Amino acid sequence: MTLTVRPLHPTVAAEVSGVDIAKGVDAATVAELVAASNRYPVLVLPEQDIDKEQQVAFAARFGPLEIAGRNLKEDNFRSRTHKHLADISNLDQEGRPLARTDRRRLAGLGDRLWHTDSSFKPVPAKYSMLYADTLPPAGHATEFADLRAAYDALGDATKARIADLVAEHSIARSRSIIGFEYSADEQAFHPPVRQRVVRFHPGSHRMTLYLASHASHIVGWPIPEGRSLLLDLIDHATQPQFVYHHEWRSGDLVWWDDRCTMHRARPRESDGVRDMRRATIADVASTLEQFDPTADPRALPNARASVPA
Ligand code: OGA
Ligand code: MN
Repeated sequence: MTLTVRPLHPTVAAEVSGVDIAKGVDAATVAELVAASNRYPVLVLPEQDIDKEQQVAFAARFGPLEIAGRNLKEDNFRSRTHKHLADISNLDQEGRPLARTDRRRLAGLGDRLWHTDSSFKPVPAKYSMLYADTLPPAGHATEFADLRAAYDALGDATKARIADLVAEHSIARSRSIIGFEYSADEQAFHPPVRQRVVRFHPGSHRMTLYLASHASHIVGWPIPEGRSLLLDLIDHATQPQFVYHHEWRSGDLVWWDDRCTMHRARPRESDGVRDMRRATIADVASTLEQFDPTADPRALPNARASVPA
């Protein structure tokens, strides 16, 4: 298979043609796609006509899949999609629109905050692959921010200050920003976890920020000081030059690297059905265990050069 990679943004996104996911991909194509993704962490694969099993089979070529939909007690009854497909829709299990006050709808509104998937889990996401089956008449848009480019653009003093910081992440934290409360049981299912603020991206041997609205505060710092730093870093990383805005077409599969990007849904009120589903590939370990740029000399120039010994 010969892939064509056409940039949609100077650093963060590209469109890939020449892949037919329904037919399955061979090992060479998998390797080519991973190489493209290491360069452009958001890949748009348009005009895919795939069912759930085909989406899962494709995603499984890239690593172990997360089990979907266990954040809310209501999700336990939501069998509309697939064990490995997060239901990114406005529908209930019978395919009817969720009521305005439905907790699944309200929790889903948290996707409008800048985040990276599953940073609130001990082993966070590596890749997300979101497929647009049906879109409402007004369409849908998602934005993606490049956290490697954002890291590179920081001043040396900031790089040194944040090099070894660890943030506490929780899904309850990000949802509370919009006033959505998890029950004690739900919170117990996803207790807070720690993740590095700056991490090594093994695919590109570059350093990257690792940020999300799930990040509550910096471990060991006064809460207001850590939280304001995180907000400042998110502001920095989501400046227009680092952001790609994607207008979805049905049949798009958008694949992003959660290790070095953030994304957010854009608000768009419309009554129609939005039926999207996401396969999520788990990373290999917590970011706390992953950070060892010195293990790879190619990482050093961008990794620690500016950090005092
Ligand atoms: C996701 C997500 C945003 C959107 O699927 O992880 O955040 O625009 N989606 O649906
Ligand atoms: Mn998401």
